[in-house]
Amino acid sequence: MRVTVVGAGYVGLTTGVCLSQLGHEVICADIDRDRIGRLNTGVLPFKEDGLDELAAENIARGRLRFSDDLAMAAARRDLLLIAVGTPKGADGEADLSFVRQAARSIAPVMSPKTVVTLKSTVVVGTAREVREIIAEERGALDFWVTSNPEFLREGTAVSDFLCPDRIVIGADDRDAGERLVELYRPILEKGVPLLETGTANAELIKYAANAFLALKIGFINDVADLCESMDGDIGAVAKGIGLDSRIGSSFLMPGPGYGGSCFPKDTEAFARTGRSYNVPQPLIETLIARNDLRKQRIARRVLEELAGISDPTVAVFGAAFKANTDDVREAAALHIVPALQQSGVAVRACDPWARHNAARLLPSVVWDDDPYVAASGADLLLILTEWEIFRLLNFGQLAAAMRGRRIFDCRNLLEPQEAMRHGFRYVSLGRAPIPKREKKMAHAAGIRCANRRFRSPN
Ligand SMILES: NC(=O)c1ccc[n+]([C@@H]2O[C@H](COP(=O)([O-])OP(=O)(O)OC[C@H]3O[C@@H](n4cnc5c(N)ncnc54)[C@H](O)[C@@H]3O)[C@@H](O)[C@H]2O)c1
Repeated sequence: MRVTVVGAGYVGLTTGVCLSQLGHEVICADIDRDRIGRLNTGVLPFKEDGLDELAAENIARGRLRFSDDLAMAAARRDLLLIAVGTPKGADGEADLSFVRQAARSIAPVMSPKTVVTLKSTVVVGTAREVREIIAEERGALDFWVTSNPEFLREGTAVSDFLCPDRIVIGADDRDAGERLVELYRPILEKGVPLLETGTANAELIKYAANAFLALKIGFINDVADLCESMDGDIGAVAKGIGLDSRIGSSFLMPGPGYGGSCFPKDTEAFARTGRSYNVPQPLIETLIARNDLRKQRIARRVLEELAGISDPTVAVFGAAFKANTDDVREAAALHIVPALQQSGVAVRACDPWARHNAARLLPSVVWDDDPYVAASGADLLLILTEWEIFRLLNFGQLAAAMRGRRIFDCRNLLEPQEAMRHGFRYVSLGRAPIPKREKKMAHAAGIRCANRRFRSPN
């Protein structure tokens, strides 16, 4: 199938590369000439496990091309996938201007019977609006606009795309839906569930799914706070909750508040959709407010830990919004680091992939790729991203590098007793600080299930 993906960002490029891997003839088109120029020299604009190898393979096979000429890229195609950004606009609504602009660019050159598909996350009614934009330009042209929301996660984007939990196809016309079924046939043949529905349902599914996942995070963060104040252990509690198959164990790790390019803007857009239909979504409205507060509260707790220290320095480990990506959009670090700096704290930092993206947005931070160099002279180490290299930190080397002996671990990566043995005061989320209060119930949280025994890590 001849496919053009409009927008070569995290979703568009992954989609284009993976579709070429499935055997389709793909053009990835983007208005960012620099991005396309680099792609044409084999340089990907972001880091994503396995994507560069797959791209190189399909470029070599002649199935994958890149272009900044949208008119050329959109002409004579079976499918046009729109995967441009839909950032948060003023008042929290989704900014659909890139989607509208993309629709206007493809309209003049579209062939009859082309299927346009919205892969971007868009509010209910956008497929209909895009249809109107194209119809305004092309009058009687016979074409379809469908919705096919994307659920991939940065960090595991390639496998998420090729082996998804489900494929959702929103089409108000059977022929258009069939074209998408054909597009995904190699994936569907592996038994991946397919949901075919109307465009409005498909649009809502994406927002509702992200809102629900964000709710899980917000919920476990609140439970973690409760654990802290009652000397509980969120590790054991989350495990006990997650073993219930109705709940599941994913998204039950406490952290510094959700971030990234999707959850913050998608929860806001979902809440706004509710308000605009006069069906408010109070759970999500509360979640958004609590998530913002959480980042402020973490900053305040760090400052409390530094009380009495003159000219304090904090080493921040992790700027990406999560591990295995270089994406810093709405990352906790972007909120917490400026709050610390405004209170007179000097910040040093380390992130294996996201350093360059973060450095552009966080002035006056001293970066180093070596965590021990980044930690040198710091009074407190603040872990914000769950990178594996931070889990493997050597306490002896840290102690030698740092001025102080404080660790605030917002991802519960480290072993509290180990930290204490090396003389650190160790604060994490949902576990009592160590050594301020010794845990009484440290080993009390084992449970039995069939023949398997789960034990809380501390
Ligand atoms: N990033 C994720 O993990 C993820 C997951 C699922 C869904 N989504 C959704 O997918 C969409 C894209 O997200 P992203 O993270 O890939 O964004 P992104 O910012 O990484 O990429 C968007 C790209 O679109 C290009 N673009 C903008 N206007 C254009 C136009 N008129 N014509 C051609 N190209 C244009 C930009 O130059 C950019 O390269 C969003 O709606 C997002 O919510 C993202």
